[in-house]
Amino acid sequence: MAKAPGGGRQSEKDLKVRVKTSKGRKIGSTLWLQRQLNDPYVARARNEGMRSRAAYKLTELDERFGLLRKGMRVVDLGAAPGGWSQVAAGIVGTTAENPLVVGIDYLDMDPIPGVILLKKDFTEDDAPDMLIEAMGGHKADLVLSDMAAPTTGHRATDHLRIIHLVELAADFAIQVLAPGGTFIAKVFQGGTEHELLAMLKKNFATTQHAKPPASRQGSAETYLVARGFRGT
Ligand SMILES: C[S@@+](CC[C@H](N)C(=O)[O-])C[C@H]1O[C@@H](n2cnc3c(N)ncnc32)[C@H](O)[C@@H]1O
Repeated sequence: MAKAPGGGRQSEKDLKVRVKTSKGRKIGSTLWLQRQLNDPYVARARNEGMRSRAAYKLTELDERFGLLRKGMRVVDLGAAPGGWSQVAAGIVGTTAENPLVVGIDYLDMDPIPGVILLKKDFTEDDAPDMLIEAMGGHKADLVLSDMAAPTTGHRATDHLRIIHLVELAADFAIQVLAPGGTFIAKVFQGGTEHELLAMLKKNFATTQHAKPPASRQGSAETYLVARGFRGT
């Protein structure tokens, strides 16, 4: 069994492509490359013109929870390279005349037809207002956060950063969701603070954790799904 960096274990017998360690390539990079070349979601994303394998996490969450419907307004926090925005755009039927999907990331993103993409750090004070303005002042039906802070390697610092991002996303969701709306956020197992969960339970009819099959088994990543926003 090979331990893939930051991900799950891949059985040697399941590998279609084996990558030899070459001079100058670190073992971690070799295993990453091997995992990419053998990952069916990576191949599917390439064949279907999706920008990321992450796109299938939203597709699978949607299949399980029935999140997306035509005409819905969606905010995508941490949108780059744009897989989730692509999935949402395809289902809600957004257009340049009536944009229903707004995404934000501090990284550059190629345009997606009908989607407003802001290049901005979501933790900056003016980011929420910029998103609200981009939505034309309308309430959202779905707030998605796939944001992940870059890790420092210092466990306590990383944990605090992750929690901070989720809390900011949750506060924003409560500010902009229409009654009945849904909030989805990437969290890490063992990392959802009781205080945050209690706050979400107060504001939403149901809250649960879900790990879609496209999320690598060995990764601690999971998604918090809060549905039935009670309204402010
Ligand atoms: C896992 S990727 C998102 C993948 C995306 N859902 C997709 O399907 O293509 C996480 C993203 O969160 C972004 N991110 C992390 N912290 C952020 C912040 N403070 N503001 C904006 N974006 C942030 C990163 O730049 C990264 O692009």
